[in-house]
Amino acid sequence: MLPEVRLSEITREDVARMAEWLQDKEVNASWYGADEKGEPLHIGYTPSQMLDASEEHWQEVFHSDVRKVYSVHSANGDHIGEGQILIEAPLWEAQLFILVGRKELWYRGYGTAGLVHLLDLAFYTYNLHRAWVDIPEYNLPALHMCERIGFKLEGRLRGTHPKDGEWHDSLAMGLLTEEYVRRRARLMEPEPAG
Ligand SMILES: CC(C)(COP(=O)(O)OP(=O)(O)OC[C@H]1O[C@@H](n2cnc3c(N)ncnc32)[C@H](O)[C@@H]1OP(=O)(O)O)[C@@H](O)C(=O)NCCC(=O)NCCS
Repeated sequence: MLPEVRLSEITREDVARMAEWLQDKEVNASWYGADEKGEPLHIGYTPSQMLDASEEHWQEVFHSDVRKVYSVHSANGDHIGEGQILIEAPLWEAQLFILVGRKELWYRGYGTAGLVHLLDLAFYTYNLHRAWVDIPEYNLPALHMCERIGFKLEGRLRGTHPKDGEWHDSLAMGLLTEEYVRRRARLMEPEPAG
């Protein structure tokens, strides 16, 4: 059974925690790594730069119609990660991103639960036709998580992710709305005993 999570609007305190989580080498190594100055890379915005952002800049980044950024919380209300939906409206599709920043919670189903919430939003709220993820080939837990959810391998993207001074390939995996509708009920079922 997946753990309960909920998504909420991101706050300045959440951005500060994101900045802190990304300082962890193990976290940023499976995410986008760090730049040549050692500054961890993030997608959509730079947490350290948003800490003191003006209200106008904040609105621009976090209230966009194209990139939706959500904080992920566990059942007890703790902020545990972030999810993003990058919408390509003319194509009725979106790229999804999920990060569980509190690595002591990895491999307990929180990433899967967070991604299921993002998929619900993508398909049921934004009425999209396709959701996809772009996962570097070295990120085995993320590949495993997406396969379990039902994403299908669509192709190999060459040299998309810089890490440790080298470019790595990534795998594009996609899920269509009708596939998700069929898959979702099974994902929410308790694991068979034994
Ligand atoms: C990838 C990430 C989101 C997964 O979150 P999580 O809460 O740990 O994920 P889950 O527990 O829901 O699922 C992880 C799956 O990978 C499996 N796994 C763990 N280690 C693995 C390994 N070394 N090789 C293969 N599979 C592995 C787990 O067993 C689990 O599969 P299961 O549910 O079938 O048992 C999380 O590790 C993270 O935030 N990493 C950094 C950011 C990132 O990589 N994001 C993904 C880009 S979309």
